[in-house]
Amino acid sequence: MRFQEVRELVRMQPADPDATRRRLAGCHDVAALRAVARRRIPRPVFDYVDGGADEELSMAGNTAAFRRWRFLPRLMTDVSAADTAARVLDRDLPLPLALAPTGYTRMLHPDGERAVARVAQRRGLPYTLSTMATTTIEDLAAAARPDLWFQLYILKDAGLTAELVDRAEAAGYRVLVVTVDTVVAGNRVRDHRNGLVIPPALTARTLASIASRPGYWLRVVRSPAIMFANFAGPSEITVEETIALFSEAITWDGIAALRARWDGKLIIKGPLGPADARRAAEAGADGIQLSNHGGRQLDRAVAPVDLIAPVREAVGPAVSVLVDSGIRHGADLAVALALGADAGVIGRAYLYGLMAGGEAGVDRVLELLGTQFRRTLQLLGVTSVAELRKHGRELLIR
Ligand code: FNR
Repeated sequence: MRFQEVRELVRMQPADPDATRRRLAGCHDVAALRAVARRRIPRPVFDYVDGGADEELSMAGNTAAFRRWRFLPRLMTDVSAADTAARVLDRDLPLPLALAPTGYTRMLHPDGERAVARVAQRRGLPYTLSTMATTTIEDLAAAARPDLWFQLYILKDAGLTAELVDRAEAAGYRVLVVTVDTVVAGNRVRDHRNGLVIPPALTARTLASIASRPGYWLRVVRSPAIMFANFAGPSEITVEETIALFSEAITWDGIAALRARWDGKLIIKGPLGPADARRAAEAGADGIQLSNHGGRQLDRAVAPVDLIAPVREAVGPAVSVLVDSGIRHGADLAVALALGADAGVIGRAYLYGLMAGGEAGVDRVLELLGTQFRRTLQLLGVTSVAELRKHGRELLIR
């Protein structure tokens, strides 16, 4: 057969000249974006994102806990008008999803927090800036205006902690997310093994990765130095030294003090059981973000998805219940909501996208999760998030 004859039989599609777009278009789930990131990012940096504490039992348990559930759909319901919109902390969102705070985001890609926040804005979703961000509170707010949340680590330096809260308020952040599971550093074995320092150092060990991951190193040398940006620090730091800046002595009194200082919505983020969730509500929290830090802190900590139902029962409908740790698919989001959560929050999922393709990679992740969630709703036979939550327990089987 001649080429001319083949051409008549097969419709030729022009290849996209943009390599990043081509790469991202070939990714059809978060796992594929993770695989691309793994190939393109030096091992110490990829492992900083991908790894967890100690034996990574919590990290593995987080995804497994979502995947243990099986669906029993409602059939013969008209789902042509399925709508994924949801109201979360008094805001209408196109999807019950928010983006979690992650430290040192510019180490993964120089566009870092700005790129993620721009995507969040375009897609109408909240973005949480970390205390340990590599872009300042003010610069981020000037670069993008999604529904802006600020994550607070209570620092040993109380004056600095108060200053961060006031700066976030002045810059127009709407929600304060206080992370309470980081009194000391989780034992991140991969970071120790890799000798990770921030910014990533060109040592004999990392030198080898220049040849195999030239794109990453080219971006690093062309962009401003990577360091946490919201307050002054050393020019080089490890993750463990970073967490040593945080207070080991946080108590509910500290939460009450923050409540008195912060007028906006307040969320407590950590592995809160029913009793602690009730205390958080009593202390004036508007919401709870059930989280074990993606398995990066207390290894063997319970999977947050398993806390949703008991916590919802403990706090009732008035307190918002968010959940993170282990969300990798729109179906995970459906499980979380069916169990009684108001929204899911993603960390690594968007970071894999950022590492795989910068801003466009983050966008691809949100596109995939949105499509997967909508399809799951329709195949479950429900037409809205309200219906999913109403019929939730009938739709899930273990
Ligand atoms: C985090 N997380 C986190 N949490 C926080 O409150 N402040 C922070 O600065 C960070 N930094 C951070 C960096 C990286 C690289 C990761 C992966 C995570 C935890 C994060 O907010 C969230 O709880 C988890 O990422 C959720 O789990 P998944 O979605 O990653 O499984």
